[in-house]
Amino acid sequence: MKKEDGNPTKELYRQLRALTCEQLWDEEVARFNRATPRERMENVAVVRAVGVVFSEAGTESQKETARTWLRGLLNDPCEKIRRYAIGAFPKIGAGVDEEVELLTLLKTADEDRERKFLSHALEKIGGVRTLEAIENSGLGLQTRQKVKASVARVESPSGIRMDGVFPNFDGLKIHLRGRAGLEGIVGDEVKESAAFRKTFRVEQVGHGLVAMTPVAPFTLGDVYRLRCFGTVGFVLGKANNSNEREMVESLASHITSPLSRQLLKTFTDGSIRYRLNFVGKGHQRGAVRLIANRAFALCPEILNDARIAPWTISIYPAEQGGSVELSPKLVPDPRRYFRLQDIPAASHPPLAACMARLAGMMADEIVWDPFCGSGLELVERALLGGVRSIYGTDLSAEAIAIAGRNFAAAQLGPVESEFTCCDFRDFARNVGSRSVSLVITNPPLGKRVPIPDLRGLMEDLFSVAAVVLKPGGRLVFANPFRMESPERSLKLQYRQKVDFGGFNCWLEKYLKT
Ligand SMILES: C[S@@+](CC[C@H](N)C(=O)[O-])C[C@H]1O[C@@H](n2cnc3c(N)ncnc32)[C@H](O)[C@@H]1O
Repeated sequence: MKKEDGNPTKELYRQLRALTCEQLWDEEVARFNRATPRERMENVAVVRAVGVVFSEAGTESQKETARTWLRGLLNDPCEKIRRYAIGAFPKIGAGVDEEVELLTLLKTADEDRERKFLSHALEKIGGVRTLEAIENSGLGLQTRQKVKASVARVESPSGIRMDGVFPNFDGLKIHLRGRAGLEGIVGDEVKESAAFRKTFRVEQVGHGLVAMTPVAPFTLGDVYRLRCFGTVGFVLGKANNSNEREMVESLASHITSPLSRQLLKTFTDGSIRYRLNFVGKGHQRGAVRLIANRAFALCPEILNDARIAPWTISIYPAEQGGSVELSPKLVPDPRRYFRLQDIPAASHPPLAACMARLAGMMADEIVWDPFCGSGLELVERALLGGVRSIYGTDLSAEAIAIAGRNFAAAQLGPVESEFTCCDFRDFARNVGSRSVSLVITNPPLGKRVPIPDLRGLMEDLFSVAAVVLKPGGRLVFANPFRMESPERSLKLQYRQKVDFGGFNCWLEKYLKT
């Protein structure tokens, strides 16, 4: 391979990176193995290229062959070659054999640079052996914390405990977050549930945010009985952002505070691990490293784990120090237990729940979603009770099948259901006038699939609703246009601009007079 000016190792690596595993192995590795120590040093990029190309394109047996070769290079007299081999391991699926070799090398490695590479590799592939060796190894705090998190992930996999009772509720602030515009409905849901459960009290309603406080010991199950919010965060405090050192110190102390420890202990099964999320600021790897290390020094039981963690600690931006909030990661969301399948244009689930609440109730409700997709709005409305039957229509046969399956999974007992693959206008002709008490829907908004006459479609929705709704019936839907109802019998009762994930729509409710 031809090396060009500039950084010759980088340039050679760029060229080698484009080769196949076979070309690399049969020609470049063979040449490297035959080369003199000086030539090997000049061609050290071969080692890096093997790590990357084999990890991306190699078969399992090719990877094993490459790992054996790389392990052999750990005994190379040249530090640079050993270092490149160390750096290649995490990518290529290293296991216990490689971990043992790296730990052996750690005992003799005396150059700082090589020890640093060993630490980084062990942070990624190290397990129990590394953890055992760590005390006498001189490895830093960061390596300890990362390896401890990897081991904990495997040995003590964790989950969120929904039924743990949090006793020290006094003064605790809980933030329910969601799409801007829905906060009024989220707040009303909390208020209404407070009336008969007496668990939470609304403190403040802001842009996309409802702050509430518990008024009694509570479980996460109590929080997740509320269906309209998007995410929940327990407020740990405010970040001090006067300078980096203060910021690190304040975040680490919030993460490890008695409040945080108690929340994490009450609501976690298994190891306690979290990831940090600087909302709207990207990865912030440097800051995360400093905060995670400091928090680990303060409390070695609380582990930062960027890979999979049951908790997220988010820092929401604010001039006077952002709010630091602890949120459970519940995927899938237990509130959507019925959601077996999805469609690409499915509604944002909390929005569907908000729409169902906004709709309110009528006795013996008959509900129709003309554009039902996967059926979220229908299930959300039926879950609130008082529904006799639901109808779902959609042009897509696949969506109809999914909606049927999701509805069945919701186990809504006696609620009758009928899903039909057809244009909503045709269904309206068959269902007859004044036969439905609620039309609830998220129509196509022309974002994913262009709709030739979207305004015309909305006008048709109004006229169809005006025909099928009983007097006192309601139309609840997301309207992409700020338009008045062309139907005089439909009176506007509610209109609110809502963030639909990058664009706004109007959430509207009309009453059939
Ligand atoms: C925004 S999606 C509905 C999403 C649904 N709420 C959910 O959560 O899955 C709109 C749906 O309208 C359907 N659709 C579009 N034009 C239609 C028409 N003329 N009649 C019935 N359905 C239609 C599309 O196939 C699509 O599934």
